Amino acid sequence: MAQGSFYVTTPIFYINDVPHIGHAYSEVAADFLARWHRAVGDDTWSLTGTDEHGEKILRSAQAAGLPPQEWADNLVETAWKPLLDAINISNDDFIRTTEERHEDGVRRFIQRLYDRGYIYFGEFGGYYCVSCEEYKNEPDLIKNDDGDLLCAIHKRPAEYLSEENYFFKLSEFTQPLLDLYASNPNFVSPDSRRNEVISFVKQGLQDLSISRNSFDWGVKIPWDESHIVYVWVDALINYITAIGWGVDDQNFSRRWPATHIVGKDILRFHAVIWPAMLMAAGIEVPKQVFGHGWLLVGGEKMSKSSGTGVSPVELTAAYGVDAFRYYFLKAVVFGADGNFSLEDIEARYNAELANGFGNLASRVHAMAVKYFEGKVPEASAKGEAEKVVSTLIQDAVSGAHKQVEAIDITGALNKLWTIVDGLNHYLTEQEPWHLAKDPANADRLATVIRTSLEGLRVLAVALSPVIPETSEKLWVALGAVESIGALSVQNLLEAANGELPTGSALGTLPVLFPRIDNKD
Ligand code: ME8
Ligand code: MG
Repeated sequence: MAQGSFYVTTPIFYINDVPHIGHAYSEVAADFLARWHRAVGDDTWSLTGTDEHGEKILRSAQAAGLPPQEWADNLVETAWKPLLDAINISNDDFIRTTEERHEDGVRRFIQRLYDRGYIYFGEFGGYYCVSCEEYKNEPDLIKNDDGDLLCAIHKRPAEYLSEENYFFKLSEFTQPLLDLYASNPNFVSPDSRRNEVISFVKQGLQDLSISRNSFDWGVKIPWDESHIVYVWVDALINYITAIGWGVDDQNFSRRWPATHIVGKDILRFHAVIWPAMLMAAGIEVPKQVFGHGWLLVGGEKMSKSSGTGVSPVELTAAYGVDAFRYYFLKAVVFGADGNFSLEDIEARYNAELANGFGNLASRVHAMAVKYFEGKVPEASAKGEAEKVVSTLIQDAVSGAHKQVEAIDITGALNKLWTIVDGLNHYLTEQEPWHLAKDPANADRLATVIRTSLEGLRVLAVALSPVIPETSEKLWVALGAVESIGALSVQNLLEAANGELPTGSALGTLPVLFPRIDNKD
């Protein structure tokens, strides 16, 4: 079946503060893709990590009275790694930019650009947003009532900085980048973001200041240790240092190029600067850069700096990890911005997870227990209705796979949900509880229950990338552990064909998504 190499990354997050659900959102999306690709047999690797150098981190550490390394170690261990457990992320690696494997790679990369003639020394002045760690152009600044220039994203004053720095000849890559976007239309996705990036690059690119010498929390420039590498250049290189660029060539060529999942706030770094850096170094560009939307609060980007950051743990404690993962991937169209609210989470939870999916599973399981002593019955009387169900399932799984390949995560979940709705519809039509009243219908009853159990089996496999814990519970309840092996080794694309062994015993099924009572 589908067998390729799939390397997916999240942004590496600033550790100036603790994570909020915006960070969790990127993590869950990338994790969904990684789990799906593993489940279809792709040679998959998923990377996440933390961005620990630069002025923003240095200032946070100083404000707390700690050396930056100590500050970073604390936050990584007490906040960022625990986030991954809290939302059940299956990452294969976690990179910190203060690790030796990374710093060493950054020095080699920068030296290579220098040796190839892409770096020169010059002078530069401009408005800098420390929250973005970026020099801002005119269109990215807004004026407040006092006439101060503010960063349009963070609404904080941009500081005028003037420095003698090393520069990367980004301007030389205007045309090569436009050629890249033209020859590989999926390189920047979704389409709306691609258009933004193209019109930005078409204006012509300026060279990029890539060193700092006003502070020293960073990787030293190898040929001039009075300068450190600009934090964004340092950070972007993580995607290749983590897989052994220049150290383990075999692993590097096995994994690279990557699919980068990032928020739209940092799209230019990934879709413009990063591929230009790679071209300059003579390294293949990424496979794809996907810029997802923002979770909004009151129409604005949810963020710590605006005081609107919501802790992921608050939500997972209230609704469970799987409901958290499901909600954000299904309710916020992947690629677009989206508002969320507790009312909306609860409404979808009750309608889709508790009533739609959970209730389907418990009804079918309970009937198998009641009518067939908890054993998988044989489907000896299949008819037109069963053919319809089987076609629906095949189409849903293969359709969802196509959508995952196009990184349409919400579309894939909608497609899979047609199985839930289809099975509920099938039960309503077939009325097994009615069939059970007359022994003459025994074969039909067995067929309906068997068909429904098979549908649940497909759902357990196909939904495991989004609701892994629930899928596992359902899998065990289908008796699948003894009879057909662990869920994690099931091939998702083949799930629609497989069959539960007739006569095998079901396990017990806990309530998958207990209803939430309206609190008011
Ligand atoms: O930018 N909605 O780190 P960062 C959706 N260190 N996603 C959101 C979000 C929101 N409201 N808020 C944050 C950095 N995110 C750099 C990245 S990569 C080489 C270096 C997510 O801690 C989204 O993915 O500011 C966004 O791009 C990222 O967090 C920014 O995280
Ligand atoms: Mg940020």
